[in-house]
Amino acid sequence: MHKHTIPGWPHPGQIRQLRPSDLANFREHLLRLDTESRRDRFNGVTDDIFVGSYAARCFSDGTTVIGYVEDGEVHGAAELHERPDLDEPTGEIAFSVERHLHHKGIGSALFSRLIAHAQSLGYEKLRVTTHPQNEAMKALARKFKARLIFEDGETVGTIEVPEGSFAFLPAAENARLEANGA
Ligand SMILES: CC(C)(COP(=O)(O)OP(=O)(O)OC[C@H]1O[C@@H](n2cnc3c(N)ncnc32)[C@H](O)[C@@H]1OP(=O)(O)O)[C@@H](O)C(=O)NCCC(=O)NCCS
Repeated sequence: MHKHTIPGWPHPGQIRQLRPSDLANFREHLLRLDTESRRDRFNGVTDDIFVGSYAARCFSDGTTVIGYVEDGEVHGAAELHERPDLDEPTGEIAFSVERHLHHKGIGSALFSRLIAHAQSLGYEKLRVTTHPQNEAMKALARKFKARLIFEDGETVGTIEVPEGSFAFLPAAENARLEANGA
């Protein structure tokens, strides 16, 4: 199997765009999320039928889904959905990492890869639907100097897409560059 070759990436799995044939894996990943992560991800309580049809919709409506894939299974994902109903072209993004992999830099790798993709599509603003107390999501955005702003009492945060190069780098590589003053 093709292996990840980026230096400094500490995980056995790969960050890559999901293929149409990954639908079942993506659905299984979303269904495996623990109760709290699922609630934070979908901003409320959802049943398995909703989650299953949500996954199928992502694969039929042009959503970009980037995954963390290990041994052929998806254990983390980042999604970019177009919101054509809004006046300004806006992408809606969402993240999910399974609990046993939290705090290991996988969300960061997915975030940087997804923002780079959003930049390449010309989006200037992205929306995240979650609750304003979602500290993990806020920390993730902060880490990349992306401002996540919630209007009072709202459940939709806005991220201004940073300008300039935003290529994917694993956390360890970012730390090395920062330490070297890059
Ligand atoms: C948000 C989420 C994707 C982050 O994934 P992750 O793989 O744990 O993220 P990372 O390990 O890359 O951590 C990114 C930064 O956030 C910080 N962070 C992560 N979880 C945190 C928490 N619960 N509280 C505060 N900070 C947190 C980390 O410390 C890290 O910062 P650092 O590198 O400066 O230490 C994950 O918590 C998740 O799936 N949550 C449930 C779904 C969700 O809330 N999705 C977002 C809304 S759609």
